Amino acid sequence: MRAKWIGLLIGLSIGISGISGCTSKDAAPAEPKAAEPAPAPAPAPAAEPAVDPVAEAQQIFKDRCTVCHGETGKGDGDGSAALDPKPRDFTLPEWQDSVTDDHIKKIIVYGGAGVGKAPTMPANPDLDAKPEVVAELVKVVRGLAK
Ligand code: HEC
Repeated sequence: MRAKWIGLLIGLSIGISGISGCTSKDAAPAEPKAAEPAPAPAPAPAAEPAVDPVAEAQQIFKDRCTVCHGETGKGDGDGSAALDPKPRDFTLPEWQDSVTDDHIKKIIVYGGAGVGKAPTMPANPDLDAKPEVVAELVKVVRGLAK
């Protein structure tokens, strides 16, 4: 009688530890999965800082363009000395009249190589996703006309 009970207990405890070893492995990854979807919807609307495209364009022109095109757009930036061809003189009305806004947008985003011009005019692929900033950059370039 006793031996039977002991045998049963041992059998049970092995069985239980076998089961619990199994279930705890299975349950572990399931728990965070089940908990995750609950808090997710709350912080979902990511508050993107409203950046003024005008200010961003002016900053980009200073940071990325004046090095070659110069502060006044004459094409006399510090980095222009070694360039051949030289950047256009944006102050010339003849140049302004010779290009469309669309052409200026394209060369800003895709670079000189993208529009059949000198590849030394770099592309700005990050601006592809910011058409409103590119439009403002066009205005900056247009505004340099004398
Ligand atoms: C590394 C120097 C360099 C930088 C930086 C640069 N450019 Fe240029 N850019 C050039 C050169 C060189 C040309 C002339 C390409 C040609 O005529 O083949 C040019 C041409 C242009 C043109 C005239 C295209 C035409 O058809 O006449 C525009 C507009 C222009 N760049 C805008 C910009 C803007 C806006 C930025 C900043 C986002 C910028 N560039 C940054 C070198 C540069």
